Amino acid sequence: MSLIDSTRLKQAALKARDHAHAPYSHFRVGAALLDDSGAIITGCNVENATYGLTVCAERVAILKAISEGHRKFLAIAVAADSPTLTPPCGACRQILWEFCGDIPVYLVNLRGDEREVQMAELFPSPFDRRQLL
Ligand code: THU
Repeated sequence: MSLIDSTRLKQAALKARDHAHAPYSHFRVGAALLDDSGAIITGCNVENATYGLTVCAERVAILKAISEGHRKFLAIAVAADSPTLTPPCGACRQILWEFCGDIPVYLVNLRGDEREVQMAELFPSPFDRRQLL
């Protein structure tokens, strides 16, 4: 039996999406990370008038989690309202790989579509600490 309650995680991502600050794109995203103690840490996208300083929901969640002392992550859920489910962008994949490695990523939208994909599938040839050794 999986230790991951993906339903709870997806619901947390959908709820986190409600807090999105997306007045420019109107594209609202929520993310929820599960750590090894069962804690869920959420994030939403936070846009900025400069556009370029916008931070994605996934990075808000992971940076918030790290800054609060969470270190080991089992899964992440990402919720958006796109008919084609929204996977993490390239920058978020790099950051997620650094702290989470090959975890499952649950993608959901508001109409109930879902897909599960592994980080290694999204980010197959990473630059990571192994290159620095
Ligand atoms: N966005 C995320 O928060 N996560 C993703 O995985 C893709 C894009 C945000 C950034 C921006 O606020 C809006 O969606 C449109 O790109």
